[in-house]
Parts: sequence; C-alpha cells; structure tokens
Amino acid sequence: MRALEQTSLNGPADLRLITDAPVPVPGPGEVLIRVVAAGINFVDVSQARGTFAGGPQPPYVAGIEAAGEVTAVGEGVESELGTHVVGVSIRGGAFAEYLVLPGVAALPVPAGWDDEQALGLVVSWPTALAALRPLGGLVAGQTVLIHAAAGGTGQAAVKMAKHYGATVIATASPEKHDVVRGLGADHVLSSRSTDLAAEVLRLTDGVGVDLTLESVGGPTLDASLSATKRVTGRVVVFGLPAGEAALSNWDLVYKHQVQLIGLNIGILIQTTPQLYGEIMGELFRLLAAGVLGPSEPTTYELADGPKVLTELESRTTVGKLALLP
Ligand SMILES: NC(=O)c1ccc[n+]([C@@H]2O[C@H](COP(=O)([O-])OP(=O)(O)OC[C@H]3O[C@@H](n4cnc5c(N)ncnc54)[C@H](OP(=O)(O)O)[C@@H]3O)[C@@H](O)[C@H]2O)c1
Repeated sequence: MRALEQTSLNGPADLRLITDAPVPVPGPGEVLIRVVAAGINFVDVSQARGTFAGGPQPPYVAGIEAAGEVTAVGEGVESELGTHVVGVSIRGGAFAEYLVLPGVAALPVPAGWDDEQALGLVVSWPTALAALRPLGGLVAGQTVLIHAAAGGTGQAAVKMAKHYGATVIATASPEKHDVVRGLGADHVLSSRSTDLAAEVLRLTDGVGVDLTLESVGGPTLDASLSATKRVTGRVVVFGLPAGEAALSNWDLVYKHQVQLIGLNIGILIQTTPQLYGEIMGELFRLLAAGVLGPSEPTTYELADGPKVLTELESRTTVGKLALLP
C-alpha cells in the first residue's frame, strides 16, 4: 500500500512516499480501516523531530489519527464491516491507505458526516475540552488565555470557551487574526509579540487571566505564567512547539504563584478512562447543541504530506489539516 514513511528524526522533510508498505493485520481487539482521511496534528512534527517522549524510531509510517471504513476486525471486536469510524493510534501508521486501530479507540463517524469531517473528534477537541473544563475549571464570567488560537486545537478551544461564557484572549500570528476574531474571541494578540504578558495584564486590569491554555512553551511559558492570576489562576501545559523551558520551585514560590497542570490526552485516556468518557459525552452534547460542527479540514494528497507538515512546523497553517490517501 501507499504510505508516508519517516526516515530520520530531522523533521518532516524526511517523510517519504513509499508504495510497498505491507497492509497491517488487525490483532485481537483491533480493527483495520481503509483510511479515507488522515488528520494531521502537531504531534506528527514532534515525532518527526524526536522530541515526542517515547515516540517511534525511524523508519516508521507516520500519522496518528484517521477516519475510514472498517474492512477487517480482529478477535473479540464487534464492529461491523463497512462501518465508518474515526480513531487514534499513538503507534502511528495513519498516513497510509490502511491503518490498524484499537477497537476501543474507534468511534463511529457521526451520522450524516463525511469521514474527513470527524477529524478532530478524538485528538484536538477532547484535548481542548480537557484543558478548559475538568483540568482548567473554567466557569462563566472567567477570562481565559488561549494560545495558537487559529490552529486545530485552538479553534475548538475558543468556540467552547465562548460557549461556557468566558472572555477569551487569544494569540495567533497576525495574518490569522481575522480567523480568530471570526470564532468569537474577545481580544486577539500577536503570538509574535515579545511583550505578551504585559498586554494580557493591560486587558485584565493588572490581575491576569483565570486560566491559560499553554500550548507553546519556550519563552511563552514564562509569559503565560506572568499573565495568569496569582493564587487562583490555572495554567494547563499541553504543548511545546517553541521548545522546553525551565521552571524552578523558587519560581513557583516567589514569582509565579499559580496552579500548574500538565495534560497529555493519551495518558488521560489510558489512566482515567472514566474522565475521558465524561469528556467525550460532553463533546457530543456540544455537537448536538451546535457549538462544534463537522470539522472542515484543509485536505491534501498523501504525497503532499512532507510539504504540509513543514508548513505546520513553520506556523503558516490555519485550522485542521488532513491527508487523503
Ligand atoms: N498534550 C496533548 O495531549 C496534546 C494533544 C493535542 C495537541 N497538543 C498540542 O496542542 C498544540 C496545538 O496542536 P495542533 O495539532 O492543533 O497544532 P496547530 O495549533 O494547528 O499548529 C501549531 C500552532 O502553534 C503555534 N506556535 C507557536 N509557536 C510555535 C513554534 N515555535 N513552532 C510552531 N508552532 C508554534 C502556531 O500558531 P501561531 O503562529 O498562530 O502562533 C502554529 O500554527 C501543540 O502544541 C500540540 O502539541 C497537545
């Protein structure tokens, strides 16, 4: 089958189209899908750079998220052949014509939706929701700072935060600001600014936001901590495209007296399946209420994968992206 194979840890430019990848065979508890659309996530870039902890070693077939048609099932799986599902496989393999998914991780594509419209349902949206509500504790009337607000995860976060009655301060590269305003963000700041903390403090009468969704890292982590309310403010850390940043116990005692929370959706799914179930239940309520609609990813041919992932890494993309094998 055709697939995109990562051949080094030097980034997405070393992703190669191959035509002789073996079609995987579903084991017990697994399903095989014919991939109709594969979702692109920043994690694909992290894996290609070797910065994803415990990530795959090259050569590997890249991609963790896909939607498609069930064509075979392993022992003990009840999914019917021909059903359309969306799922995530952290072992990779989604940028290909066929993918094996754990049966429990394969969710039916919502009725009336095309497969590509279900991308986001299993990675970006639950991450955004986990950060806002069960972990971030956002309630109506509070203010939330959302970074990378024009991205796949950020766009969902902005829509949900507005639905929950929050004031949204969003950051994005300047050319994406109209998109973010269109989602309902109250204030949009440049993610390229070196003065972000001061700008957020100006917008919040000097006290800072109640919650920050920290998905950038590097120098932005310090800006996020400085822009968050002392004592009661929460900072949920779930991404570091700008790199690692040091934070000491001294910082937490004397400089940033905030509540710091780490989030990794894969670990949340594994260790607290009940919480994940509650998050998915709430997501479906948000879908029914029209807060989130079918995803509208920008789609590309499988062969364009290296180019699109390079663009994602260089911050020029907007919204959810997908590859069509
Ligand atoms: N922990 C988890 O379980 C989990 C799950 C899903 C996603 N995430 C994280 O959530 C974030 C968003 O993921 P996504 O897949 O939806 O990607 P995305 O937001 O569509 O794309 C990443 C965006 O991050 C911003 N960014 C800021 N500094 C950057 C830098 N130095 N390099 C690259 N991008 C930078 C860019 O937006 P601007 O240029 O507009 O600022 C860029 O467009 C990522 O950090 C990802 O790792 C974490």
